[in-house]
Order: sequence, then structure tokens, then C-alpha cells
Amino acid sequence: MATPDAPLLRALRGDRPDRPPVWFMRQAGRSLPEYRELRVGTRMLDACLTPDLAAEITLQPVRRHDVDAGIFFSDIVVPLRLAGIAVEIEPGRGPVFADPVRSADDVARITAIDPAEVAAAAEPVRQAVGIVTAELGDKPLIGFAGAPFTLAAYLVEGGPSKEHLRARGMMHADPDAWHRLAGWLSGVSRAFLDAQIDGGASAVQLFDSWAGSLSRSDYLEFVAPHSAAALEGITVPRIHFGVGTGGILDDMRLGGLADAVGVDWRTPLDTAAAVLGPDTTVQGNIDPALLGAPWPVLAAHVDDVIARGRAARAHVLNLGHGVPPDADPGVLTRIVERAHGLDS
Ligand code: CP3
Repeated sequence: MATPDAPLLRALRGDRPDRPPVWFMRQAGRSLPEYRELRVGTRMLDACLTPDLAAEITLQPVRRHDVDAGIFFSDIVVPLRLAGIAVEIEPGRGPVFADPVRSADDVARITAIDPAEVAAAAEPVRQAVGIVTAELGDKPLIGFAGAPFTLAAYLVEGGPSKEHLRARGMMHADPDAWHRLAGWLSGVSRAFLDAQIDGGASAVQLFDSWAGSLSRSDYLEFVAPHSAAALEGITVPRIHFGVGTGGILDDMRLGGLADAVGVDWRTPLDTAAAVLGPDTTVQGNIDPALLGAPWPVLAAHVDDVIARGRAARAHVLNLGHGVPPDADPGVLTRIVERAHGLDS
């Protein structure tokens, strides 16, 4: 079990460890040759639900980079698979649903499934998390889930989309159906978070990756209450992340439910800190595009991110979005060393 004085947990509570703790979104996965080797012959969602395999993949980047936390290897659509919904992750494309949820009847079909079924089916998740947390010892494991809007952005469209027109359209065309669907997704994501906390996760991150495609008024009316419901009453520190959310950063605090808000590379962290105020930790925001730049350029950028992060009550160093699949893992290790004061 992680100790409360682990740097990540201190920073999420608002303390300032001497150096910012660091981890990377999507640190587990395709940038690592050891991951690609383990995954040969196993479909993504099957790998997520095989406890030994999911545990080993979670631990790979922690061993390699010595990051300050693990993030559980899984996917935001895993709880939907556990609910019995037909979903696959197509390599190079993303989550694809056989029966998209587009009409009020579709919503009724899906919301008839009791989120308690997800909790019951989540045993492989609890097991995998248990293996990981035993191995990690003092180091925290971050559990995660998709926020209702980002899940709907796949479930309503049937697959990846750029502007999520159908999901955003449903909010206005049939607000009742939208709220029923989003409320249900919130319950399903909550069951997934609870399974990870039961297994020993010390913090959670809610990914609302595509929230940046919403207007502020749509975010507040149709999305924020359901994201808040997914986090309400959770007993471990909570991180809330989205891409392109510069215009709704303050709203992403969810009235203080979020202990930390993840910021993408577009908003400098000192600007984010001024918006978020004295009660919220910031997380971010190294630009993933700079991972391929010459080291002196990237190092100066990392130093700048750390310096701007000092404007916040506390800072968790991360990328502004996930590790790109073609990133050089050696560069990620070097960023950790720099954050830890071992590379100057
Ligand atoms: O290290 C980690 O961050 C933990 C694992 C993790 C995965 N997905 C593994 C994964 C996490 C936290 C996620 C979250 C996730 N999944 C999000 C939110 C985060 C974000 O990046 O915004 C989203 C939007 C998804 C949906 C999803 N799943 C996409 C868009 C893709 C990529 C499709 C592709 O192949 O480019 C996936 C697949 C996926 N999830 C992979 C991994 C390691 C790749 C699967 C493979 O190895 O083939």
C-alpha cells in the first residue's frame, strides 16, 4: 500500500514536495518494446481482463522510467465490456461498438443493465490491481475511468469521431435520453473506479479527454453534473483531465470535487493556476510534440513547465496528453531524471 507521504499523494493534497512528482498518461503501452512483445496474439480488451498480463503491463513503465506512480493498464471502455456491451478496440483506430446508442430506445436498452453487474464482473480488475499494488509497495497506483461525455463520444457515434456531433446532438435533440444515458455511464464508470480502489489504488483520474469539444454552457448543463456524480464520495484523491479545456478549466474543478485538474499543452500552467485558484493542484503539461525535439530544446521546455507549475498550490508533472506510440522511451526516462534532479 502506498504511504501517504508518497510525493504524488502529497502534491494531490496540496503539499509541495521538493520536486514535482512525475508520471505520464499512456506510459503503459505501445511506446515500450516490452509491451509490444507481451501483447502479441492477445486482443487489447482480453489483455485488460487477464489479471497477470494487465498487472505486468502496468508495472513495465514504472520499472523502466522510475516514475512516481503507476497508472492501471486498462481502457475507458472496459466497464462497458463488463456490462455486456459489444465493443472491441481496433488497432490503430480505437473503440468500436457493434450497436451504437442513438435513439431513446437504444438508451432504454442499455440503461436496463444494472451498474451493479459491472461491479460483480470486475473481479479480474480487482485482482490485477491487487497484484500491482503489492509489487509497487510505497509507490501509488492511479486508477482511472472515462467520464460520461468521453464514453458517450464513442458509444453514440459507434467509434472514434472528430467532433462528436451525434453525442453533442443528442443533448439538444432529446435531453431526457441524454441525461439518462450520461447518468448510467456515470454509474458504470464509478463501479470501475470502485473496483480499482477496492484493489488498492491510491488515487484516481477521470479522463474527459474530449470535453474540449463542448461549449461552456453545454458542459455545465449536460456533462459536469454527471462527471461530478462519478467522483462524489470517492475517498482517494481525484484528478480530472481533458484536452482543449482552456475555456472550461475552472468548471473542470467540479466545485472542488477535483483535487487536481489536468491541463493540456495549450494553456501555460501559470495561467491555469491563476484560473484554478489556491485549492487545486495542476497536472501537466509537457507538449507531446516536443518529445522528438533535440534534448536541449525539450529540456528547456520541461524546465519551463516546472517553473510555471510553481504558480499553483502544487504540481504533478505529466504530458499535456498521452505518450504518442512512436515516442522514444529513453526520452521519457530522461524527463523523469530531470524532474528528479538527476539530469542537469
Ligand atoms: O498507461 C496508461 O495510460 C494506462 C492505460 C490506458 C489505455 N487507455 C490503454 C490503451 C488509459 C488510461 C487509456 C484511456 C483511454 N482510452 C482514453 C483516455 C485517455 C486519452 O488518451 O485521452 C481514451 C480516449 C481511450 C480510448 C482508446 N483506446 C483510444 C483512442 C485508443 C487508441 C487507438 C489506437 O490504436 O491508436 C485505445 C486503445 C488503447 N488503450 C491502447 C492502449 C495501450 C492501444 C492498444 C494497442 O496496444 O493496440
